[in-house]
Amino acid sequence: MSERMRTLTVKLDQRSYPIHMGEGLLLRAGELLGEAGCGEKIAIVTSPTVARLHLTPLEDSFRRSGFKTTLILLPEGEEHKNLASLETIYDRLVSGRFERNSCLVALGGGVIGDLAGFAAATFLRGIPYVQVPTTLLAQVDSSVGGKTGINHREGKNLIGAFYQPRAVLIDVNVLQTLPRRELLAGLAEVIKYGIIEQPELFALLEEKLDPLLSLNKDLLLEVIGASCSIKARVVEKDEREDDYRAVLNFGHTIGHALESLTGYETFLHGEAVAIGMVQATLISMRHGSCDKESCERIYRLIRRTGLPTELPSSIIPHELVKSMETDKKSARGKIKFVLCEGIGKTRFHWLAPEEIAAMIAN
Ligand SMILES: NC(=O)c1ccc[n+]([C@@H]2O[C@H](COP(=O)([O-])OP(=O)(O)OC[C@H]3O[C@@H](n4cnc5c(N)ncnc54)[C@H](O)[C@@H]3O)[C@@H](O)[C@H]2O)c1
Ligand SMILES: [Zn+2]
Repeated sequence: MSERMRTLTVKLDQRSYPIHMGEGLLLRAGELLGEAGCGEKIAIVTSPTVARLHLTPLEDSFRRSGFKTTLILLPEGEEHKNLASLETIYDRLVSGRFERNSCLVALGGGVIGDLAGFAAATFLRGIPYVQVPTTLLAQVDSSVGGKTGINHREGKNLIGAFYQPRAVLIDVNVLQTLPRRELLAGLAEVIKYGIIEQPELFALLEEKLDPLLSLNKDLLLEVIGASCSIKARVVEKDEREDDYRAVLNFGHTIGHALESLTGYETFLHGEAVAIGMVQATLISMRHGSCDKESCERIYRLIRRTGLPTELPSSIIPHELVKSMETDKKSARGKIKFVLCEGIGKTRFHWLAPEEIAAMIAN
């Protein structure tokens, strides 16, 4: 077992919590959960694939530390981030007589994390939960910040709550089994952090992309640490996305619209965001906010990863912006767009849909 562990704190007064990062942390989960102040009953929420690959060390560690564990298996995939899965969790918590200090542990990607988090937010009006993210996307993004929720048939994430976990445990070893396509989708969010906040992170990705994609653990820990610390700082400033947290939506206005127009079937979220970031950067350049060299660096890095960069030819800019108007971030007919002002700097700008359509290169 590796002893290496780094801890960041998300500082939100009484709701502050640690993000532990390292190698082999699943094996130390029991000890770390003890520190999070949970009662002895734990329900591990996960899916069959992740359970097969990563459940045993986690369960063993909880048992060694004296916790009583229940396993709640949910079906795989975004289409199951719904009421039926939530009901499965509630049913098991009720039949297992879970109490106010019992704890949910989300072992999986963003789907499992969002579901378990929302169940924790609502069961008995709130019980503790811990995130053990197993995709890169969940490790750098969805497990931190307390956004929880489920989809409605009319739209993604329409039902949810802000509810912070008691701790986040990031074990880089689990990424060794992650399919490459999922890894790249998570990497898109890491690139986003570089663009919005940290030129050094962006430069590190440019320099060390190959060893990173070969899953060099030191590098993974470095970029996950940098990403989580950016996300934590943004959340500390604006926990409920009243304003500044929307900076995390760089590339997402177009990305979400693209996912929606393609019925959530063509692109993984990170792939749509990669295309969205290229387009948002081009719009920023055409708008006079971003210099050509930064724009080219962003395009080159995304392209080198193997993530998609181009809008499919079937996508018509006017349809894309129409889809953006139904996004939660639009108001008074204008869209709150995150413009890039070179690598590491952004600003918000309200753009009319027709302005965006005119600037989208197809
Ligand atoms: N709460 C937030 O702030 C936030 C932020 C971003 C995204 N999200 C949500 O996250 C979800 C997407 O999350 P995701 O990209 O992690 O997808 P996911 O949860 O669907 O996981 C992707 C796939 O990878 C598999 N998997 C997970 N870990 C694995 C591992 N270690 N080895 C092998 N296979 C593994 C899963 O079984 C699944 O099939 C969306 O629902 C999105 O809305 C939430
Ligand atoms: Zn995203």
